[in-house]
Formats: sequence, structure tokens, C-alpha cells
Amino acid sequence: MNAAPAEPILRVVGVTKRFRGLVAVNDVTFDVPAGSICGLIGPNGAGKSSLFNLITGYYAPSAGEIRFDGRRIDGLDTYRIAQMGIARAFQIAKPFPELSVLDNVRIGALFGHAGARNVAAVTAAALELTGLASLADRPALGLTVGDLRRLELARAIAARPRLLAADEPCAGLNPTETEGVVDILRQIRAAGVTVLLVEHDMPAVMRVSDTIFVVDAGRKIAEGPPEQVARDPRVIAAYLGTPAEDAPAA
Ligand SMILES: Nc1ncnc2c1ncn2[C@@H]1O[C@H](COP(=O)(O)OP(=O)(O)OP(=O)(O)O)[C@@H](O)[C@H]1O
Ligand SMILES: [Mg+2]
Repeated sequence: MNAAPAEPILRVVGVTKRFRGLVAVNDVTFDVPAGSICGLIGPNGAGKSSLFNLITGYYAPSAGEIRFDGRRIDGLDTYRIAQMGIARAFQIAKPFPELSVLDNVRIGALFGHAGARNVAAVTAAALELTGLASLADRPALGLTVGDLRRLELARAIAARPRLLAADEPCAGLNPTETEGVVDILRQIRAAGVTVLLVEHDMPAVMRVSDTIFVVDAGRKIAEGPPEQVARDPRVIAAYLGTPAEDAPAA
């Protein structure tokens, strides 16, 4: 699928985040084209979650700009960024345990960026998309890890975002469940939602992403189609923990 290059819906431009002495994100720049799935990968501590926290307003950058649909969002409150159309599926799902699956998803729909319209229909569609319709009346409390991951996606999607930032949606899943999540992410893209994905499951992220960004020690070290990034010596070195000959000096 090689359509004309789409306008970036999200632009991260020279973004840096310092925590006292530590530079968690160091002058990172990337564009997420509208309608794509982009994977954000890198070793532990590379700065992936920090980037998500910057994009979704949990942190303000120390330097740089973040633009969503051409408008600056860096430093805005999380709720304003959510209202503008960015939803986040958290790495650690925190549903309301006593509420039903349906009510958990309904909360996403109620606080969605398009306002509380068509809540029942939007909730039903999100449950259907994530394969949770048959569990709608169960309390979230007893769900399996796989069901919880899909509930987290359903809640985020029910907010009708234009960009979904999904943090490790395949963590802890077996290969069948992972395939299910990959399929859900593709359906989300097909519905016109852009996806930015942090994921440690390499085969899954390589299979589902149109473009991959690789970060290591706070810096972007590679960007491109999955097959190109997988061959990149700097990426291999970052994952193996050995210096690549052509890697920039740290
Ligand atoms: N609030 C904070 N205060 C101080 N340091 C932080 C804070 N958040 C993150 N860091 C540090 O910033 C660096 C990047 O962390 P981050 O959580 O973004 O990495 P990550 O790529 O998400 O890693 P992982 O794959 O393990 O989740 C780490 O050294 C981390 O300890
Ligand atoms: Mg993280």
C-alpha cells in the first residue's frame, strides 16, 4: 500500500526532556503521517514512555515543539490534549474493577473528544472491534490479561481519537492474543485513526508498522520501514548493547 505521502498528523520537533542531571529524551524529531501505524521502539530506558508522556501532556518538554494537526500541544494539560483527539492506551491497564466491561468502555465514550454523543453506539462499536461484546456485562475485576489489554484499547478507542498512542498493547500476551491485538490495530487504522505504538514484541511491531522510529539513550538513532530498520547496524548494536562502528559517539 503505497499511497501519496500523507500530511503528518503529529510532529515531534527537537524535543528534549531533562530530569535534573538525566536527559531522558534528547533532541528527538519525527513525523507521524496521518492514517499510518508508526512503531516507537528501543531498549529499556531509551525514553519511549517519556516521549508518550510528552505527547499526551503528562510532561512539558524542556525544549522543542510537539504539533498535532498543525497546532502546538506541548505543555498543554492532558485533558486538553485528549479533547483535541489523542487517546492513550496505558501500559498498565487500570480499569474500574467493580464496573462492567461495558461501563468501563462507556466512560471512554463519555469523555471522548467528540463529546458525549452517541455514547451507546460508540461503546457497542468499540466492544465489537475489540472482541469484548460477549464479556460486556462482566466486571473488569476477573478479566484475563488478554481481555484487559483489549479493554484498554476499547476504552481508548471509545473516546473517538484521531491519534491512538498505545503503550505495549501486546505485553504479557501469548502469540494468539498478540495476533488478535495486531488485527485490532489494523482495524483501528482502517477506521481512519492514526496509531503510534510502543511495543517490545519485535515480530508484532515489525509486522503491523508502516514506519518505525528507534530511540536509544534518549536519542532517535534510526527511522524507516520495518525491514530497513531491522537491518540497521546502529539498531542491532543498541539492542545487543555493543557499539556499532558507524554509530554516533554517545
Ligand atoms: N519522572 C522521571 N524522573 C526521573 N527520571 C525519569 C522519569 N521518567 C523517566 N525517567 C528516566 O528517563 C529514562 C527514560 O525512561 P523511559 O521510561 O522513558 O524509558 P522507556 O524507553 O519507556 O523504557 P522501558 O522500555 O523500560 O519502558 C530512564 O533513565 C528513566 O529512569
Ligand atoms: Mg516504558
